[in-house]
Amino acid sequence: MGKIKILVGLGLVLALFPLRHGNAQSDGIQIPTSERIMSRGWWPTKGSAAREEYVGSAACAQCHKHKVQTQKTTPMANTAMAPLDSTFLTSRPKIVGQLGPYHYDLVHNDKQVQYSVSNGKSSASGSLIWVFGSGEHGQTYVYEQDGTFYESRVSYYASPQALDLTTGHSPATPSKVEAALGRPMDPDGARLCFGCHTTASTTHYRFDPGQLIPGVACEGCHGPGSRHVAAMNLDPDVSGPKDILNPANLSPIDSVEFCGVCHRSRIDVVLNRATGLEDVRFQGYRLETSKCFGTGDARITCIACHDPHERLVRDSGAYDKNCLACHAAKASVKAPADHYAVACPVKERDCVTCHMPKVEAPSMHSTFTDHRIRIVKAGAPFPE
Ligand code: HEC
Ligand code: HEC
Ligand code: HEC
Ligand code: HEC
Ligand code: HEC
Ligand code: HEC
Ligand code: HEC
Repeated sequence: MGKIKILVGLGLVLALFPLRHGNAQSDGIQIPTSERIMSRGWWPTKGSAAREEYVGSAACAQCHKHKVQTQKTTPMANTAMAPLDSTFLTSRPKIVGQLGPYHYDLVHNDKQVQYSVSNGKSSASGSLIWVFGSGEHGQTYVYEQDGTFYESRVSYYASPQALDLTTGHSPATPSKVEAALGRPMDPDGARLCFGCHTTASTTHYRFDPGQLIPGVACEGCHGPGSRHVAAMNLDPDVSGPKDILNPANLSPIDSVEFCGVCHRSRIDVVLNRATGLEDVRFQGYRLETSKCFGTGDARITCIACHDPHERLVRDSGAYDKNCLACHAAKASVKAPADHYAVACPVKERDCVTCHMPKVEAPSMHSTFTDHRIRIVKAGAPFPE
């Protein structure tokens, strides 16, 4: 903890007296997202650019066709959308559920998706304006009343294929039917929620979801692209800076905290004191607190194992090469000098099946891969 306090202090100092051109990149120190987005240079969820500086993913296709085609199919690209664009939702003719005395349903026609609740005596309903979550784990719904956004009290979960309480809502039975429908989102909460699930929802420091780009689009990670597009149209062979962030050039800590803006870095989780079984969803925090991570190494950044432009690889054996980039393959054989980590005494392949176990996050009714790489002992409690 002491170490983290010092790092937070250092982060504050850096925000006040920016180092290295006052860049959002730190070169190897942990910095909270809230501070990185106040520094110079692009960082995900930063809201300073004007809307006109964003061109949309379709404009990137002119020159990066393959990346645009594959990225479009990822859950990240489809993590928030207009209700009628969600085939996860519209492929089901009707979704119904019961929670205590309340009956819920979601029905759609070609104009809208209507979300309603009733206890037999009274009822309330709203027309959805946004759907959050690709449906990989689940979906939460947003409707609007008198200019305020509301988050649905129930969400649809993929593995039980049923409606249940939305993560973070009180399980107590509401006395009013309006409260059973959903709760108002405070402006800060709404801004953060759209910030991680959409692109360009905050521009010129103003939250304006009316003009956003749905999902995590190219510019949600790379930053507004208009200058890059103009420069590349002028001279595609230009050497030197390309007026866009290439995260391949980040230091290992920066790289993990880059994904950790949304997937929660260690320092963000510690500052929010958000630990417990649910933190298995916070891949940044879990990875950074692994022995393997140490002080960071390019072989153990998120992008060493995942290509953010492609769908998640589900073949456990495909990750062996990542482990064996550092660990010796066999205790009996001399490993190259940069393979400084010991070999497994138990098995030589499918490493992640034993050392990155699937753990259930109860509020999501589904399992997540524990990114705290470790020896799992039968019956031992989940290490927070
Ligand atoms: C007119 C063609 C063109 C368009 C449109 C275009 N790019 Fe590029 N981009 C290039 C060229 C050329 C390069 C340099 C060679 C390479 O890395 O492919 C490049 C490089 C990049 C890089 C790496 C930069 C570096 O410093 O290594 C990123 C990231 C990138 N583009 C993202 C985007 C995104 C996101 C969009 C849409 C907002 C986009 N590009 C639109 C032509 C284009
Ligand atoms: C702007 C926020 C944001 C950033 C930055 C971000 N992600 Fe994500 N990512 C999400 C959200 C939201 C989801 C959940 C998608 C859904 O609805 O299923 C997600 C899902 C994923 C998934 C799961 C895909 C699946 O098939 O279930 C992977 C893997 C992933 N992200 C990797 C990365 C990596 C690697 C980086 C950094 C290069 C990164 N993400 C950066 C927001 C982000
Ligand atoms: C700090 C960034 C962040 C914020 C803020 C945030 N989310 Fe997420 N959300 C994520 C990431 C990353 C994932 C994927 C990993 C996971 O499921 O935990 C995710 C997953 C989800 C999922 C499950 C999607 C799926 O099927 O995989 C839903 C639904 C969701 N978020 C809704 C919301 C809503 C509604 C809000 C606002 C009240 C919100 N989130 C706020 C980053 C964020
Ligand atoms: C979740 C974050 C994320 C999203 C969304 C994303 N990228 Fe990237 N991109 C990265 C990271 C991280 C790298 C560096 C590592 C790598 O090359 O995969 C990168 C590298 C690149 C590069 C340079 C490296 C190369 O292979 O030429 C280009 C060009 C690029 N991205 C284009 C795009 C385009 C176009 C889109 C939208 C279709 C997009 N990216 C969406 C994170 C993202
Ligand atoms: C050493 C390899 C490795 C590294 C490093 C790694 N992951 Fe993963 N990740 C995996 C494996 C293995 C899975 C599970 C794949 C499957 O379901 O078969 C996974 C799954 C995921 C998922 C899907 C949801 C879940 O928890 O199952 C997300 C999101 C994700 N990783 C994000 C990240 C982010 C963000 C980082 C960096 C902080 C990261 N990963 C670093 C190996 C890695
Ligand atoms: C960047 C290098 C690196 C990568 C990549 C890496 N490790 Fe490690 N790992 C280490 C180091 C260093 C240690 C601690 C020192 C040691 O035991 O040699 C360690 C320790 C471990 C431990 C012992 C943990 C404990 O609690 O005692 C296990 C198990 C492990 N790694 C498995 C894996 C698996 C499985 C993968 C791939 C998913 C992986 N490692 C990827 C470097 C790495
Ligand atoms: C069938 C489950 C299983 C698989 C698959 C597996 N391991 Fe292990 N591993 C274990 C167990 C159990 C231990 C603890 C052994 C002990 O303490 O006696 C262990 C121990 C380790 C250690 C700590 C060794 C030490 O001396 O501290 C490392 C490192 C490790 N494994 C890495 C890996 C890597 C890398 C792979 C893939 C090449 C892998 N494991 C595959 C079950 C597995």
